[in-house]
Amino acid sequence: MFPLQRNRRLRTNEAIRSLVRETSVSPQDFMCPMFVTEGKGIKSEVPSMPGVYRQSLDGTVKEVKELWALGVKAVNLYAKVSEDLKDNTGKEAWNKDGLMQQTIKAIKDAVPEMIVMPDVALDPYSIYGHDGIIENGQVVNDPTVDALTKMSISHAEAGADFIAPSDMMDGRILAIRKGLEENGFHNVGIMSYSAKYASAFYGPFRDALDSAPKDSTVEIPKDKRTYQMDFANRTEAIKEAIHDVEEGADIVMVKPGLCYLDVVREVKNAVNVPVAVYQVSGEYAMIKAASEKGWIDHDAVLLEQLTAIKRAGASIISTYFAKYAAKLLQQ
Ligand code: PBG
Repeated sequence: MFPLQRNRRLRTNEAIRSLVRETSVSPQDFMCPMFVTEGKGIKSEVPSMPGVYRQSLDGTVKEVKELWALGVKAVNLYAKVSEDLKDNTGKEAWNKDGLMQQTIKAIKDAVPEMIVMPDVALDPYSIYGHDGIIENGQVVNDPTVDALTKMSISHAEAGADFIAPSDMMDGRILAIRKGLEENGFHNVGIMSYSAKYASAFYGPFRDALDSAPKDSTVEIPKDKRTYQMDFANRTEAIKEAIHDVEEGADIVMVKPGLCYLDVVREVKNAVNVPVAVYQVSGEYAMIKAASEKGWIDHDAVLLEQLTAIKRAGASIISTYFAKYAAKLLQQ
């Protein structure tokens, strides 16, 4: 009751504010998504993501070293393979000498302690740009899960620390966990993209990998709404996360970030594993574009968003700003 309680006392100066601050963000909260491409000496900027590059192995390894030095302890890898390697089965995804497998090995050789989490989904390998195999105009669940399991085992063989399935097929966590166990990869973890919404915020990512659902002569679903979640739903996210934990997920993820912080908090309260949040490509692009125009303060908005994601319940944030934010926080 006023004046016994004056809430502003705890806001008087930065010293007291910092003493009572409930949430802090640090480089070890971050994972950095990286786009790898074939070739040598290649570094091409993603047009809709200024400051984010598709890089060949050499540049990727160099950047991983920089990230490690800045205190960033995990990378999420996405491969951009050439069109001629794509088909409907996605079989290039489990080529033991494939781009992703080579990248995992190279990173683990160069920075053995870095936690390497390759993305598992078929879209970068699919001629149709879908996360699964197409039969009769549909993305078929169980044959896709078999493919994802092969893909995961090949990533583990290459040295991945965590498998990160982003495909949203049913039962894939159980199948991948079993596949890993049967092949002796007991300590390879799974970070499941559990509550992944069918979101318009993935646009710049699909530009980066050229992985958007394509126009095709055969009938294919025009979007990903038969597997990614309806953004109107909340309880469904909890169901997905609980199922994934039951199936063996070590970490569950909510994606995208900012529009889904209510979901993050609910999932956090519902499961007893760490929750990760992916601040996705469209979220990155919005901060870049608005700040380029001078309409928002880039660094202030960035720190506010990262803090809000943690406050909502994230233990880990996957962010294209990882390197930049790590530097910013050191100042
Ligand atoms: C594909 C995948 C996507 C993202 C991560 N993995 C795109 C999609 O589902 O179409 C998006 C990430 C981002 O936008 O930053 N399985």
